Amino acid sequence: MNSLNLDQSIINALPTYYRIGPIELTSNIVLAPMAGVTDSVFRRMILGLGHCGLVSSEMTNAASVSPKALKRHRLLDYLPDERPIAMQISGNDPDLVARAAQVVEGLGADILDINCGCPSPKVTGGGHGASLLRNLPKMSRMLKAVRAAVHIPITLKYRAGWDKQSLNYIETAKIAEDAGVDGLTLHPRTREQLYRGTADWQRVAEVKRAVSIPVIGSGDVNDAATALQRLYETGVDGVMIGRGAIANPWIFLQIAQLRRGEAPFTPTPADKFEFMHRFLDLCLEEMNERLALNKLKQLVSHFSLALPGSAALRAAIHRSASVAEAREHMEAFFDLHMATSAASQS
Ligand SMILES: Cc1cc2nc3c(=O)[nH]c(=O)nc-3n(C[C@H](O)[C@H](O)[C@H](O)COP(=O)(O)O)c2cc1C
Repeated sequence: MNSLNLDQSIINALPTYYRIGPIELTSNIVLAPMAGVTDSVFRRMILGLGHCGLVSSEMTNAASVSPKALKRHRLLDYLPDERPIAMQISGNDPDLVARAAQVVEGLGADILDINCGCPSPKVTGGGHGASLLRNLPKMSRMLKAVRAAVHIPITLKYRAGWDKQSLNYIETAKIAEDAGVDGLTLHPRTREQLYRGTADWQRVAEVKRAVSIPVIGSGDVNDAATALQRLYETGVDGVMIGRGAIANPWIFLQIAQLRRGEAPFTPTPADKFEFMHRFLDLCLEEMNERLALNKLKQLVSHFSLALPGSAALRAAIHRSASVAEAREHMEAFFDLHMATSAASQS
């Protein structure tokens, strides 16, 4: 874990919450939307560990946001105890996205988040996601249409630009603010970078100085000290955590503890074992065994990275043909780790 070189008095002065329109978040450390990951089960697992201010749905194509299509893919399903919840949609046709926004509002979303950052060729190929960074007039029309269509707060999640020759994060921020958007989240990589290189938080700081709506930064925050350091260095309103929360779902709790000057909680192998079992149990309540097993495979690839010898666990779970077999591999792996950790403490 990174060490933090900030005085407690500086830490005490960092913002702890922010408002998006009328919604006041109890913590300004929030979970990133992640397609294929942040479904209701994952969100509830994160919320259950505490101190996460906001969760978000996976990105959903506005074209599929009709009551009939929603029954099929259930991407915007949530339970009341997941609120406040942001629901994220992508699209590029102002009327269609505005109609989808009304459906999302009707579903009870607290915040509507518009995706203009997804770099996937499947998404940008259709003119959605980061592709709109190359057509700001169209983005502006879309945001204004959505603003006129709904009453709930709207946020925009976007990247620094299409490529390094076309960095337009400040211009995008101003266009969004003018269109009536209530908050911004910048993942300060370009579309061209995908997930390569590092997230340049100076860009987030520049956006914060350029607009008067709340600005959240997203990218490469993988431990509690880094979260507080980013708040301090950039003056942003909040920090969004994605991959760091899959690898370490306790990160929100650890940040809260570090703020209070306490030693951050270190999960034991037993805690991790319990987390995986509980995750699997909840998945099985929501989906069939094949899908639950796929979710476990996806979780384990990030979640187990910090555990010694975990490559073997990942390989075994990826080979598993049933949930029972995966559970056996988990038990064998964690039995060994729990015994090693008990021996090191005696
Ligand atoms: C598996 C995965 C899926 C993602 N899906 C989405 C998405 O649906 N919508 C979105 O706005 N960003 C999505 N992102 C980007 C994250 O929200 C976040 O901005 C990015 O991963 C950087 O933050 P991190 O370093 O904390 O992961 C996704 C990222 C990952 C790794």
